Parts: sequence; C-alpha cells; structure tokens
Amino acid sequence: MNIQYFEQEKLFKLDTPKTSYVFGIAGKRGYLVHLYYGPRLDSLQGIWDLARVGENPALADANTKDELSYVDCMPVEYSTDGLGDFRESSICVQDEGGHRALDCGYVSHEILRGKEKLPGLPATFGTEEEVSSLIVTCKDPDNGVVLRLKYSAFQDVDVITRSVEVINEGEGSVYLKKAMSLSLDMDNREFDAITLHGSWGREKHILRRKLELGSYRTEGKKGGNCHQAHPFLAVLSHNADETSGEVYGFSFVYSGNFLAQAEVSQFNSLRVVMGIHPEQFSWKMSTGESFHTPEVVMTYSAEGLGQMTRNFHDVYRSHLMRSPYLHTKRPVLINNWEGTYFDFDEKKILNIAKSARSLGIEMLVLDDGWFGNRFDDNRALGDWYVNTEKLKGGLEYLVSEINKLGMKFGLWFEPEMVCPDSDLYRAHPDWAIQIPGRVGRRARNQYVLDISRKEVRDAIMEQVFKVLHSANIEYVKWDMNRPLSDLGSFALESDRQGELYHRYVLGLYEMQEALLQEFPNLLLENCSSGGGRFDPGMLYFSPQIWTSDDTDAIERLSIQEGTALIYPLSSMGAHVSVCPNHIVGRVTPLSTRGNVALTGTFGYELDTTKFGEEEITIVPRQIEVYHRFNDIIREGDYYRIASYQKNKEYDCYQVNTKKKDKALVFFTQVLNEANQKSRIVKLQGLKPEAAYRLYQVTVEDEEIVKDTGKLLSGQVVMQGGISIDRPWGDFKSLLYYLEETID
Ligand code: DGJ
Repeated sequence: MNIQYFEQEKLFKLDTPKTSYVFGIAGKRGYLVHLYYGPRLDSLQGIWDLARVGENPALADANTKDELSYVDCMPVEYSTDGLGDFRESSICVQDEGGHRALDCGYVSHEILRGKEKLPGLPATFGTEEEVSSLIVTCKDPDNGVVLRLKYSAFQDVDVITRSVEVINEGEGSVYLKKAMSLSLDMDNREFDAITLHGSWGREKHILRRKLELGSYRTEGKKGGNCHQAHPFLAVLSHNADETSGEVYGFSFVYSGNFLAQAEVSQFNSLRVVMGIHPEQFSWKMSTGESFHTPEVVMTYSAEGLGQMTRNFHDVYRSHLMRSPYLHTKRPVLINNWEGTYFDFDEKKILNIAKSARSLGIEMLVLDDGWFGNRFDDNRALGDWYVNTEKLKGGLEYLVSEINKLGMKFGLWFEPEMVCPDSDLYRAHPDWAIQIPGRVGRRARNQYVLDISRKEVRDAIMEQVFKVLHSANIEYVKWDMNRPLSDLGSFALESDRQGELYHRYVLGLYEMQEALLQEFPNLLLENCSSGGGRFDPGMLYFSPQIWTSDDTDAIERLSIQEGTALIYPLSSMGAHVSVCPNHIVGRVTPLSTRGNVALTGTFGYELDTTKFGEEEITIVPRQIEVYHRFNDIIREGDYYRIASYQKNKEYDCYQVNTKKKDKALVFFTQVLNEANQKSRIVKLQGLKPEAAYRLYQVTVEDEEIVKDTGKLLSGQVVMQGGISIDRPWGDFKSLLYYLEETID
C-alpha cells in the first residue's frame, strides 16, 4: 500500500512513484501538522523537526500561556478559523449564536485501497491497484463539528487528491461560510506563482509572478462562464523552467466559483488554499448533515513545468475522463456556426454536408438557431423543439439525409438558459434566477435558469431527451453563454439563498450525468462562450471542450498553450476557420490553421460550399494527416519547446508516443525577420540512444509525409537540437515527424 501510518511516530506517509507527502498528529488536542511534500522519501527519521515542535507550546503542550502566538505559525494540514491562526482559513463555521470558531483534533483514521466517490461531484477515480486513500477524522469537541480530511495517492502518476467532508454532529444548526478543499503549508522557497487569465476570445494566457509577503489570489465569481481566471494555481521555484526546478500544481475539479490563494506569512512560510469561493457562499447544516467539498488534484514535479503538465494530462486521461470516445479518434466535424451563424435552412445545411463529405469530413454539427423562434440571439432559449420554418421536414429528415451521406450528426443546446421572449419563460418566469422585486440583468438577452430546482432540471432534460430521441444524433455541444448574476432562487428559504451558486453547479452535474446515462454513446462537447468553463469538472462529463471562440491560428497558439498547461490535447476543441478571421481579422495560411487545429480535436468551422481550388486540394490532405497522426497527439506526451506567448517570434511544441519511438514537432513562425539563419530547437523526451528518421509533413504537396533523408541521434536532437529552415513569410507553420529506426 502506498499510504502508511507509523503508530509510534504518529506519522502519515503518502507515496506516489516519485513523491511523498507526510503529516503527523501532535499536541494534546491532536493537531494535524503538515511536515513534507516533495521528492520521495525512504526514511522519515528526524522529520518531526520540520514542525519546530520544541519551540511551539501548542504542540509541545507546554507554556500554554502563550499558545496564541504559536498557532499563527504552525504548519497545519487544514487551517481553521477564529482561534488565532491569522493566515487564510480553510473553513468557517458559524453557530446559531453567530460565533465563528473551529478547533479540530484527531479522532481516528482509515486507510483503504481505491477511492470513495464524492456524492454529486465529479472526481478522479481508480482501481484498488491504482489508488489508495486515507481519511482522517477530526472533531471540535466544543461545537461538535467533524471534519473528514480525504487524501488519495495514485500509484501510476505523481498525483495526490484532497477533499473534505464537514459533518455537523453538534446540537443546533450551523452555517458553513467557507469550506476549502485544500490547505497546504510549506516553507517559502522563494516561489513564483503561475495562474491563467484572459477574456472572451483570449482565454488562458499564462501569467507568472513572484510571490512576495502577503497574499496573491486568483478567483472566479461568475458562477461559470469565466474567461478571466481559472481554477488552477502553480507555485514554483524562481529558477524553475520547462525541464528543471520545483513545481507544485493545484487544479480544482469544479465548475463554479473558486478561490486559489498563495500567502507568504510574516515568518516567510507559504500557505496555499483552494476551494469554493467563500463570497456569497453559506450552507446551512442541521444536526447530522454533511457537506462535501469538491476535489483538488495536486502534483509535485522536481523536473520543471513540463513534467507538471504531463502529470495532469496523465491523471486526467486515465483517472477523470470517462467517455467511450476518450481513446478513439473523434470524427472530423464541420460546425456551421462561423459558416452561417443564424442564417440557414435545411437546404443550406445539406449542401454544406455534401461538400464537406466529399472532402472527407465525417460529422456535421448544427449549432445555435435550429429551435423555437430562434432567428437571432434575442429569443427562444428554453424552447427546445425544432423550428420547422427553418428546417423543413424537421430533424428526422435532415439527420437521415446526412446519415445517408455517410456522416454523423451533432446538435447544439444551451440547456441552462432561458430568454424572456420564450414560451418557457412566459409559462414559468420564476424558473429564472432573479432577486424578487428586481428586474434581472440580461446578458445576450437571456436569463439563467434556476437549475438548483429539480422540477426545472427535469423539464429541460425532458425536452432535450425528446429531441435527441427523435433522430440519430450522436454528438451534443452543450453551451453556456452568460455568467450568473442577480442571485436569487424562488425555491430556497432566506437562510439558504447562499447555497444557490453551489446548488446550481450540483444541478448542472446532475443534468450532464442524466444525459450520459440516457445516451451512453453520445459524444459530448462542453462549451461556454468558447472556453469560459473549460475545467476538470466538465471534463469528467465530456472528453472535449470548445477551447475558444477565437479560431485565429496565431491567437490559438497562446490559448492552446495555456489550456494544455493542464489539459490533454485530446480535450481541446480546435477548428479550422476562414480568413480573414472573424474575431481578429488576421489572414493566415490554411496549412498553419490546419496544423494548429491538429493539436486539438480537429474539425472545420466554415462554409465548405464556398471553397476554392486551394481548399479543395488541401483539406483532404489535412484530414489524412489527422488520421495518420491523431493517435500520437491524443495519447502521447506533450512537451513545450518554445512559447510564442513568451518570445513573440515563434512557437514550438512536441508530442512523443509513450514508447518514445515516434514524435511530432510543430513549429510556427509568427513574424519572419530579414537575414536570419535557420533556427535550432532542442527536442525533449526521446531516447538518447536511439536513431530517428526525420520526415517533413506537408499538405502543400501530394506526398504528404516526405523523408528528409536525415537520420538523427536522440542525444543530438535533445542536447544539440534540430535545425529548422526559416519559412518565407509570416504565420507559416512546419510539421516534422520523427520515427525511430532500427536499421
Ligand atoms: C458560443 C459558442 O462558443 C459558439 O461556438 C457558438 O456555439 C455560439 N455560442 C452560439 O450561440
């Protein structure tokens, strides 16, 4: 078992292949004291020194007259509240008298193979051989609040997960005002922080900054649909780069409001907390009731950021994502959104399908505008029945015609929303989230449905199921296009209104689970105005998520780099669209747009009936490249070689098979410069002793995969590099393929 308890030393040790996590029980109250998280330890001798027990009366049970000053510097497993630890608390419990305090001590623990499910919440999973769990129960005897601190350590990847169950075993009701999933105290080793930020159309740009005394937080308070921040935080040594240095990565498996904070204290220690955002959160707990926090996935890498990324990719691919499509090539799709927007009928869609099919495209996805009175984005959300004025013959006809072409069919929904101009809203105005007595603020002329209510969820899913049963629909794009505001539920009592944000997320998860139960073979793609809700919570339900509405190849280099910092390439929805690009107006070569989309799920988002000779020649070749190399991209190990976000000149990344016998190298030159030599880039992760044949993959020629005649040693390409001739022109991209030779 990779989790042990050492009775005499009162120490818990959790091991993953290359890391250890250690904490112990100390003091007469049985405080859980954090001791170590880092490279794997074989021995724990002397580890208690890290808690400075001797100088800490709260732990040594001596000199209690000055307990307070020491509580504020103890490295604890889960920081509590109100009793002298003035750093960020992880939990806040308010009793009926209005007092807020919690002081929990060890009661018992259990170590088990496998991992408990989190009720109603997405979470990582694994077999009894793959993961073990530790649950430590602590209690505050004064108010009866019990904490079950849950840890799981994976055996096949350097990942430990954390979550907490809070139980009210006291006599009256209590209000949970804050319940973080993770609290981690460490010595500050001169850390930086990395977080992801952006806006609509420019999601997940990487921001690195030095941590100084005080707190740095990243937070989402929009209830979902949040492009500005992301439930992820890394703390890393100043000198950490792609291949070396210490990195701790924290990723939150949740799709609502979040807070991640790194705080450097007066004593230069670091506290990281992560969990549901406490602002506007309050959860009433009557006697016997419990609350489960969502899960935080954490990883430690002593080999820089690249290894952190690969740990996240591995754990999410193997232990979070569940779709039957996960390990298969996804159908190459065409989505009509950028091609037609709302202006379509069944003839137009069928013409697009026919021309797309002739080029090798395998699925047509009909986006927004097929239902109710939806001729523009001002109306009809909530009315999930076919608009037969636009689609004569309904979906039955359209889908069967598309199937006859040998294509699959997919459909767009936005189930969480309602427009004021809709039959649904006219019948049930109280189903929208609103504060009684106030006119709710609209965004894109829509309100958010109160899916914390079962009757609302059921009514929406009934409509969705009816549509999906009416024709052979094999894919669903589930969109969500506005944040939550004007928080008010007509169904919750006044002292439970603070539960709405979280209940909303639980409702969303229940709806998505119901969809997958009803249609187990469905390919689900989540979306939220592009990548506004691209998080691990949603990945549990859908193996792919639309990454951004910005389909410009150059902007996508940054967006996809930030997204792939955590998420597998196979999860990033990526499409080739027309030029000038609809969002930024940039003109890029079709081959570059294809290469950039290849590192995602790959598809097209344009009107294929408008194709000229160039597209008709090149698109089938791009599809051939996708089929030939998607297995590597989907299942392989991803290495960032050079970041356009950083250098502003060029971008380069590499994907290797797990066996390291094959690799793809994607290179994009952003702006060309006069009179410069070829560029040398160092590859990573190959076998130093192997020889690789180098091929160039180009859709410009009939021979797509061309032998360059070069045989390169693994050691040379990693320590020296490969030489890349500068292409002539801006925004040009090159794709190389390396294959090990044994001759
Ligand atoms: C936002 C999505 O990100 C787009 O891809 C598209 O589906 C529109 N919504 C449709 O309204």
